[in-house]
Amino acid sequence: MPVGPGDAKKGAGLFKTRCAQCHTLKEGEGNKVGPALHGLFGRKSGQVEGYSYTDANKQKGVVWDDKTLFDYLENPKKYIPGTKMAFGGLKKEKDRNDLITFLKESTA
Ligand code: HEC
Repeated sequence: MPVGPGDAKKGAGLFKTRCAQCHTLKEGEGNKVGPALHGLFGRKSGQVEGYSYTDANKQKGVVWDDKTLFDYLENPKKYIPGTKMAFGGLKKEKDRNDLITFLKESTA
């Protein structure tokens, strides 16, 4: 479980270096290699319109929130076997917590 509010500034730095090449944050920015993350919290996996997900991602059927993202981002390929997201994971709990704090503010 996330330990509580993290450092959103550090999270922004992590997003820029680890996620931004494949994902956008704001409404209307659209899909890149990965689906748009706008509106992520409270949404079920695999629901962004016009984005071609793997069946694995669609059928995972989780609701994205602090807890599910915390588990997913540690090791995406373990959490969703068969995903095409080419990202090894953020192993440090603090990094995941900071990133999730940033994402919550930036995707709403
Ligand atoms: C190399 C490109 C790439 C990088 C880097 C990457 N992603 Fe992804 N991401 C993807 C792809 C592609 C998918 C769709 C996976 C599928 O359909 O199997 C995805 C899916 C996701 C999903 C599921 C979305 C949904 O609607 O179900 C989340 C959440 C996510 N990524 C967050 C992140 C975060 C946060 C980072 C940075 C820590 C990151 N990703 C880094 C390419 C990437």
